[in-house]
Amino acid sequence: MAAEATRRRTFAVISHPDAGKSTLTEALALHAKMISEAGAVHGKSGRKSTVSDWMEMEKARGISVSSTALQFNYKSPETDPADEPSVINLVDTPGHSDFSEDTYRVLTAVDAAVMLIDAAKGLEPQTLKLFQVCKHRGIPVVTVINKWDRPGQSPLELLDEIHDRIGLTPTPLYWPVGIAGDFRGLLRRGEDGAPQEYIRFTRTAGGAKIAPEEILDADAAAARDGSEWDTAVEESELLSASGQDHDQEMFLAGQTSPVIFASAMLNFGVRQILDTLVSLAPPPAAREDIAGRTRTVTDPFSAVVFKVQAGMDTSHRDRLAFMRIVSGVFERGMVVTHAQTGKPFTTKYAQTVFGRERSTVESAFPGDVVGLVNATALAPGHTLYTDKKVEFPPIPSFAPEHFSVLRAESASKYKQFRRAVEQLDSEGVVQVLRNDIRGDASPVMAAVGPMQFEVVAARMKAEFSVEAKMEGLPYQLARRTDAASEVELNRQRGVEVFTRSDGVMLALVSDKWRLQYLQKEHPELTLEPLVATT
Ligand code: G4P
Repeated sequence: MAAEATRRRTFAVISHPDAGKSTLTEALALHAKMISEAGAVHGKSGRKSTVSDWMEMEKARGISVSSTALQFNYKSPETDPADEPSVINLVDTPGHSDFSEDTYRVLTAVDAAVMLIDAAKGLEPQTLKLFQVCKHRGIPVVTVINKWDRPGQSPLELLDEIHDRIGLTPTPLYWPVGIAGDFRGLLRRGEDGAPQEYIRFTRTAGGAKIAPEEILDADAAAARDGSEWDTAVEESELLSASGQDHDQEMFLAGQTSPVIFASAMLNFGVRQILDTLVSLAPPPAAREDIAGRTRTVTDPFSAVVFKVQAGMDTSHRDRLAFMRIVSGVFERGMVVTHAQTGKPFTTKYAQTVFGRERSTVESAFPGDVVGLVNATALAPGHTLYTDKKVEFPPIPSFAPEHFSVLRAESASKYKQFRRAVEQLDSEGVVQVLRNDIRGDASPVMAAVGPMQFEVVAARMKAEFSVEAKMEGLPYQLARRTDAASEVELNRQRGVEVFTRSDGVMLALVSDKWRLQYLQKEHPELTLEPLVATT
């Protein structure tokens, strides 16, 4: 089982919409030989056909493709033929419409992240937010600069931007030969930054196939692409002079980030991304529980729920709790204990899900993601285990930035309204805040992203037949406070104190100037930052 854990890599791609996450996912699937031809995403018309291709693929090969985690085997062409392939779990971070707390929680389920950057646009807001979560969790980040086949910024400028804006030292493993828009290949940098080889790519029609690679030594590279190669060598030396060479310890500590230049569309650099994940990203590791004890991967089964999704299939109206396995082997049908209630829980319906297609999971290992159907008691952060009791620390709740009062449109529906609020709160769809002044009939919802409010309204209507009214509140910030500060804070203008359903007291503050004023004039008041993503 230790070997099963060791060959797994569980990661997520963090990126801004349009940076190329779908295209890269498809390119990775192509390299792992899950699909024989890319192009469904690459072609202008074909996004939908990718979905159906994947469903067909799933049926045909028995692999699990899900909207939450895509699992595939990968064997690097460079590894020993006798070696077992690596098992890659690519956990999806919903990027576009569902950008909310859910997205951040997903990052608690991975061991590494790929930060995908558009070569022309550089760092963009959602990438930055997601990066902050990785930093907070100590998740090592591999940087991929995508779309190098299109005109973009200079590679050194892009590295400076990463360094200056997020304080991460970029340490390129591969350096592009040819400027953005003239992508010829990659110079592989050795430990000391010295060029090891030139990997020269050849385009395939529409980028549908794996791009053939030619491996050249320095002399052959110079003969082939003289001035482009010389520039790449010079720039690589510059990087070494400024200490930008890979250091595994610093990478694992989240201080440096290996960089790869790529074109997901042309499949250039994609093998190098997979090889980097396999050779450098950490496998699933031991985790500490709330008592400070260590659960190693070979201990009996344990898992953490990191996401609950309801209404994925309107005809079923069910609820799936996704767990990431921390230790031991999972076998479908086994009875596990739910740490939060101490109750037994049977896992007869363990699935992976992709759109409306579901497939049953028979067994899984540390690092893998499994969905449990209609596990109504499970919420993000909960622990499941067998044999040896364990409870992992809760997932941090992220600093909300949007606040809205929620009321039932009609008083006659109050009972359903309460039930709905309780349910959505327990699933972690939004954070629910209350205080005596506002009372129980008008709780305040606190969200990281405003989309969360829309999800609440839609689900209240669909599942509880309650029309909800929402009214935005003029607060922009939340700070953790305590009972000793409550009275004085409530006396201040632009501040209101609430208790969150987990018992934490939060002071909502109108804006950062009001907060600065309070901190200056009333240093005795408790106003502690929560886990921020900005
Ligand atoms: P996302 O999931 O991160 O939102 O991005 P997605 O893969 O959908 O890619 C966004 C756009 O960027 C797509 O173009 C896609 O083809 C393009 N793209 C992705 N990777 C590369 C790359 O390496 N090079 C180039 N040149 N383009 C890339 P689109 O115009 O939205 O669609 P389409 O016309 O290409 O179908």
